[in-house]
Amino acid sequence: MRKLLLAVLALGVASISASAAPDPGPVAQAAGDPKAVSSDNGKYFDADGNPTYKIAPNDRVDWYTFSGYRRFNGSCEVCHGFDGSGSSFAPDLTQSLKTLAYTDFQKVVVNGKQDVNTAQSLVMPGFGDNKNVMCYLDDIYVYLRARADGAQGSGRPASHEDKPKTATQNENDCMGP
Ligand code: HEC
Repeated sequence: MRKLLLAVLALGVASISASAAPDPGPVAQAAGDPKAVSSDNGKYFDADGNPTYKIAPNDRVDWYTFSGYRRFNGSCEVCHGFDGSGSSFAPDLTQSLKTLAYTDFQKVVVNGKQDVNTAQSLVMPGFGDNKNVMCYLDDIYVYLRARADGAQGSGRPASHEDKPKTATQNENDCMGP
């Protein structure tokens, strides 16, 4: 997880230095097929190697989707509305995540985003130094991905897989003493 955190922070730095040049930036990538094709200690990945959710036919979700539900509602719900469905001043993430690529999601959450003009003032704060978000960035991502795909409805997941040992280890490493 520490490795991921560093990678995420590096992304942030890259995008700050890039903003000096008049670069139109990459064309928005599609979010990709969310189908889980591999797993590693209870964490699921799609064909592109990006984290994704896994929901059993009985609605039992993987640990990370459940964790993301809790973390989202702790740090993001205040603006993005209950279960990500948006508010008058922050976008509906169950729509955004249909097209937002994983790396773009990471950049927005690490660095924040602003759209301030005469008609509106939208400010998304950056969470790059907030461990309660950074240590659970993938969890939040897979939860929102499941919401955007309609795989996870509104509300608390009915049941979930047990917390993998690696999740506890990574959490301890990331949060520190
Ligand atoms: C203080 C309010 C606030 C909080 C808290 C907040 N956001 Fe946002 N977020 C916004 C606003 C406003 C925007 C739109 C910014 C813009 O359009 O420039 C936004 C945009 C986004 C986007 C981009 C959506 C798109 O369509 O491009 C993502 C992804 C996002 N937020 C995720 C999160 C996550 C994950 C959290 C919790 C860790 C979070 N936000 C917490 C206000 C907030």
